[in-house]
Amino acid sequence: MTDQHTPAAPNDALTAEPTRHPNPSGVRRIAVLTSGGDAPGMNAAIRAVVRTATFEGIEVVGVRRGFSGLHRGELQILGPRDVANTIQRGGTILLTARSHTGAPRKAARGAQHLRDWNVDGLIVIGGDGSFHGAHYLQQEHGIPVIGLPGTIDNDLYGTDHTIGYFTAVETALDAVDKLRDTGASHERIFVIEVMGRHAGHIALDVAVAGGAEEVFIPEDAKDVSCVVDVVKQSVAKGKTGSIIIVAEGYPGGAQGVADAIQAGTGMETRVSILGHIQRGGSPVSSDRVLASRLGEASVYALMEGRSDVMIGRQNHGIAYVPLSDTWEKRKDVSRDLYRCAKTLSI
Ligand code: F6P
Repeated sequence: MTDQHTPAAPNDALTAEPTRHPNPSGVRRIAVLTSGGDAPGMNAAIRAVVRTATFEGIEVVGVRRGFSGLHRGELQILGPRDVANTIQRGGTILLTARSHTGAPRKAARGAQHLRDWNVDGLIVIGGDGSFHGAHYLQQEHGIPVIGLPGTIDNDLYGTDHTIGYFTAVETALDAVDKLRDTGASHERIFVIEVMGRHAGHIALDVAVAGGAEEVFIPEDAKDVSCVVDVVKQSVAKGKTGSIIIVAEGYPGGAQGVADAIQAGTGMETRVSILGHIQRGGSPVSSDRVLASRLGEASVYALMEGRSDVMIGRQNHGIAYVPLSDTWEKRKDVSRDLYRCAKTLSI
């Protein structure tokens, strides 16, 4: 069950003066790592963890290279000045890796490193694969763990948005706007593939915000041939060029859609796969604020004795979501947005 917490201070007691948080768990030192695909805003989250902990008199240990670095013992003390000048930087200063997070012998070594460093809790910034590794450390080795949702895909159950998502959408949208210029000038069809291995969140937002004629997402297995009619109708309506957005997880990807258009209409079609550019760049304000807020809450969560939960954002409040929910439950794309994308493409 998701547990929600919204600060109770009434408006007339509004104050910016922070007070020390209760620390019934007696946390003295925590560790933080980033894992899986990097996402813009991860640095803002690390910074929030370090600065909140420092304010509370807690030391922070940064783990380099995600779980593989943890298994190898790549730990270092992180102070508040070590995270200066990082809130605006993309990527992750701690480096990241995709690794087998729950391999038993490696996990045991990782847990031992944390114990050797007197770490009272670990904060893992990443996606559901990374949360599996965190959950394993808690279950098998009793390490208190907290997850922070860091992935551009926005595909984590239990949080309205993930850190990095807003920036990825902006980056993709900027590219779509540019491709529209050249597409319209040449009266071509542009099929643009955005990231999203299993989820169409980026594709849907980009389709609506970019005024696309059609969008293909993994959540809807509609036949690719429907794009032929869409393109023919666009031409009949006098549209100069068309934009089709495809999430990488849609079977066949952008190339499959372009092939169907070419075969069904004979029109000049170009494919653009935006790829990893969507993972880079300076985080937009929404990602920085989300990361800062969740990073702060993750430290408090450890101090309150919480563990094995992801800190999510739901309806502007903080939510504590069991880590296992993030891979056992599915976050749906917005049906309203999907419908809206279609309605507005007339
Ligand atoms: O981090 C999520 C993601 O960007 C997906 O959208 C994409 O499918 C995948 O990572 C790419 O992973 P890698 O960088 O390992 O190729």
